[in-house]
Amino acid sequence: MLSLPPAVPIAQRLLAWYDRHHRDLPWRVSPPMAKSGIVARPYDVWLSEVMLQQTTVQAVKPYFEKFLRLWPDVTDLAKADTEEVMKAWAGLGYYARARNLKKCAEAVAERHGGIFPDTEEGLKTLPGIGDYTAAAIAAIAFGRRSAVLDGNIERVFSRLFMVETPLPAAKPELRALVGEATPYDRPGDFAQGLMDLGATICTPKRPACALCPLNEDCLALKEADPESFPRKAAKKEKPVRVGAAFVAIRPDGAVFLQKRGDTGLLGGMTEVPGTEWTARIDGDTTMAGRPFDADWQACGAIVHVFTHFELRLSVYRANLAARDEPQGFKTGNGWWEHPETLKDQALPTVMKKAIAQAIPDAFRQTPKSRSMPR
Ligand code: ADE
Repeated sequence: MLSLPPAVPIAQRLLAWYDRHHRDLPWRVSPPMAKSGIVARPYDVWLSEVMLQQTTVQAVKPYFEKFLRLWPDVTDLAKADTEEVMKAWAGLGYYARARNLKKCAEAVAERHGGIFPDTEEGLKTLPGIGDYTAAAIAAIAFGRRSAVLDGNIERVFSRLFMVETPLPAAKPELRALVGEATPYDRPGDFAQGLMDLGATICTPKRPACALCPLNEDCLALKEADPESFPRKAAKKEKPVRVGAAFVAIRPDGAVFLQKRGDTGLLGGMTEVPGTEWTARIDGDTTMAGRPFDADWQACGAIVHVFTHFELRLSVYRANLAARDEPQGFKTGNGWWEHPETLKDQALPTVMKKAIAQAIPDAFRQTPKSRSMPR
């Protein structure tokens, strides 16, 4: 599988390409500045790396900028109100990451005087920082020669070396190959260059091999079909869960929201009332699970795919006749939210989909032009 080392090391070709073709990203110090000794702030690198787990660069940019505006440094984030952080995170998904982000900021502020540890080992003692994030921060913010392995880099290296072991079992092998190829000089730019290469050239489908700076080194290009790497173990179908969501609307347009329990999936986030989400074949998707009596109307269903299951939610809408709260209604930990401020709530995407199913223009850009519910 392994060939002789290329005459020009992979790192040299890759860095030359990165110097010319890197993406300008708000958390990044671009190569000319990096070469003059300016390094990225550990806070910026950490924040962006946590946001980028499972989320695209385009989606992350505005969130990263918003977080920096609200909390310019790790000590500001440590002092922030957790609810405010959850609200600012809403829409990025995987909410455990936001809770860990806050805990990590507190740990850096309290245990390390507001300064991030500068080694992979030290970084890994912090909440929410695993192998990948520790390696990325160590390389990008501290210039350490750590082997950074994310999904893009896995793809690039499995093609370069034609790694036949399927993912995720191939990770140790891939990490060793990346470790060997990582240069002493500019390891952070090397990692980011590989990420950019994976995002723009060595793409999952139809890679642009003719433009690739590593095409002479690539075994998969020479001997097989690059697109067929990385090899993957056969995918298991996701189990399906079902449930119902209830969108109650007052005559003034306000929607009834409540807070989810602090633990578990989407813990601490905001939701509309609903049934349990169950994998039972006879799971309740009817009005039987309504939170209170009203003129509930079925308005279709939404599907949302979580990491471990697919959720099919039947959505019901009730336009309340009077501002008075209906019979049997208990506010509990809920409240009525006005349409103009719905978008600012810590609503996870699945809940935004459910509300939009009931009120199609709920999250459109111009709330003032929105028609009020009848
Ligand atoms: N994906 C994850 N981390 C990244 C980074 N630092 N630059 C670009 N894409 C990334």
